[in-house]
Amino acid sequence: MDRDEELKLITECLELTQANRPVMTAEETLVPVAKYRDQALFERERRILFRRSANVIAHGSQIAQPGDFITRDVVGTPVLLVRDEDRAARAFVNVCSHRGATVELREQGRCRRFVCPYHAWTYKTDGSLANVRHRQGFPSLDGTDAGLVELPCLERAGFVWVCPDPGVRESSPDMHTEVLLAELEQIGCAQSAVFDSETRVWKANWKLIVDGGLESYHFRVAHRDTIASFFTDSISTFQPMGDHIRTILPRLSIVELAERPRSDWDIRKHAHLLYTVYPNAMILVQERHFELILLTPLALDQTRIEIATIVPDPGPAGHSEKDNRFWAANHAFTKATLTEDFEIAEQIQTGVSSGVQEFFRFARFEGALSQWHRRTDAKLGCDIDDFGGQGCRR
Ligand code: FES
Ligand SMILES: [Fe+2]
Repeated sequence: MDRDEELKLITECLELTQANRPVMTAEETLVPVAKYRDQALFERERRILFRRSANVIAHGSQIAQPGDFITRDVVGTPVLLVRDEDRAARAFVNVCSHRGATVELREQGRCRRFVCPYHAWTYKTDGSLANVRHRQGFPSLDGTDAGLVELPCLERAGFVWVCPDPGVRESSPDMHTEVLLAELEQIGCAQSAVFDSETRVWKANWKLIVDGGLESYHFRVAHRDTIASFFTDSISTFQPMGDHIRTILPRLSIVELAERPRSDWDIRKHAHLLYTVYPNAMILVQERHFELILLTPLALDQTRIEIATIVPDPGPAGHSEKDNRFWAANHAFTKATLTEDFEIAEQIQTGVSSGVQEFFRFARFEGALSQWHRRTDAKLGCDIDDFGGQGCRR
């Protein structure tokens, strides 16, 4: 964002905090709970929102060197992500072209060749077929078309996006995504490296996880033992960026800026910036580092969540002891805070599955939640007749 926009966002948050007044939309939003327990809708979400889109699947530092790879299930597609000899991130379907075995079984590693564990067909890091044992037995084999199936893959602003459907043609990021990428580049996401990460499956619909990231109404209650004391109560602003949303969560310390010259104003010192990146990522930008939260909807009531703490790249020398302790403490704190969110999401899912509740209520000061649901509904083509006649009332 440019300096004028930064000053405008700070001014807005400062005034709201001083007045202790959340931003109000005209109406509250009632969202049918059926959206969180409808199997047909879930399958439509996976197909339309996730499988046809570029999903963030990693930070580039997780495959820093040529030959570094990770494997992931990306919404039903087994993906092998590798940095090739030319240092480009490439994504392939992790399925052998011979008889379909999984080529690389490890979750991560470094190698120059991938050797299939079934009959040892071998692939280079650019996905091409390098070697076939007893090749004379396959007279029809044309080495050029028997490589791994490549997937659309883009590395920008430090992140790697992959579309899990090989049938989707590669497309350039839209205008709004370009703005988002420029902001992430400016923040220094590309000059950073993953310090620590965890992956766990939570028993909650993926939208409950997104919902929890789009409002700060719950901070004072659900996060009373972690982040509550740093933040205002229910005050935040949001700016739609096409399919993505930027949320500004002012810290209480923002009021100090009223006494300071504007030249001192730095949004990252006095607010968290949370980018809800369509369709599957949240990037929480803090003063010196950021958190990456990646969602994969596994089932109607199951979501795999990877959280990574990403910090300024220390270079070959690595972190000092002191920095190691500092970032480890940060990572543990983030994990504790997010665990508070995800445990509540699991509890909500239990209630959702019971079928007794008809609507969730999003308050007038939770505009980002309403905006996100409106946009998602439009993509899915949801209307008032869905969910047994209990469509989205607004
Ligand atoms: S299935 Fe991979 S070598 Fe046979
Ligand atoms: Fe939360």
